[in-house]
Amino acid sequence: MPALESNTRIAVIGAGAMGSGIAQVAAQAGHPVFLHDQREGAAEAGRAGIARQLQRRVDKGKMSQQALDDIVGRIHPVAALEEVAEAGLVIEAIVEDLDIKRALLSRLEALCTDDTILATNTSSLSVTALGAGMKHPERLVGMHFFNPAPLMALVEVVRGLATDPTVAETVHATASRWGKKPVYATSTPGFIVNRVARPFYAESLRLLQEQAADAATLDALMREAGQFRMGAFELTDLIGHDVNYAVTCSVFNAYYQDPRFLPSLIQQELVAAGRLGRKSGQGFYRYGEDDERPQP
Ligand code: NAI
Repeated sequence: MPALESNTRIAVIGAGAMGSGIAQVAAQAGHPVFLHDQREGAAEAGRAGIARQLQRRVDKGKMSQQALDDIVGRIHPVAALEEVAEAGLVIEAIVEDLDIKRALLSRLEALCTDDTILATNTSSLSVTALGAGMKHPERLVGMHFFNPAPLMALVEVVRGLATDPTVAETVHATASRWGKKPVYATSTPGFIVNRVARPFYAESLRLLQEQAADAATLDALMREAGQFRMGAFELTDLIGHDVNYAVTCSVFNAYYQDPRFLPSLIQQELVAAGRLGRKSGQGFYRYGEDDERPQP
């Protein structure tokens, strides 16, 4: 199946870390993008954040001001969900919660045209289960980007049991056209990357709980001795502890509470305290406005 044409309208629901990044990717590929968030002002803030990110590239001489203006000009924050009705592809990147995502997908199905593709950026929830309440689950597909979406090449294209293969092919081809490296996955808990990554987070958190070393030491070890790009604590601070904890719980429950995937009490406490990582200013580390590196 061919990729969606660059004049196809793309809608992104949820203007948090992932939704904003995905909106940027689609706008960079030339699409008009409609960005919606239920929180007042969040879609505008998402677009402003994208402009700030791109401005850094302009300042470094890696992008022209005109290109920045064009990309940002293609992103339209919309206050009402109804305004995404004309989109050819809607990508949801809202909270990682099965019931809330299902309710949104039902609303989208009622609003959008019959041939609109509905995609979910879920990290761990079953695409089959998300589609189960839909009238036409064949139009639902996982389009799982990685954080930060504009920089990370991989996209998992996740097929639920009911997903129409041509829908998955269209999304795969579109991700390629957006400069990404898509891979097909089936709807297993955590798909591929989040499944493989679970032991990395879990063992790091267990080491911390056993006081083997502090978070900064463990992160430095993983970076310097393990050659990882980031240690588990700075990475989960970037991902967001609410998101990472929800993913762990979802994979744990999907595998009938297999102790290998046991969620961490340390992370549960961080979520309870609202220490969600970079996005809240504090997680394992504290962050200032323009911090590039965590400050223990
Ligand atoms: P986030 O917390 O940064 O943003 C979520 C946004 O969705 C918020 O702005 C919130 O106001 C909005 N929202 C919540 N419910 C809504 C609704 N019913 N309608 C409209 N907007 C709604 O979360 P983040 O990190 O962007 O994650 C979003 C999704 O992407 C989740 O499913 C997550 O599992 C997935 N994901 C997250 C990654 C990460 O590293 N953070 C990586 C890949 C996927």
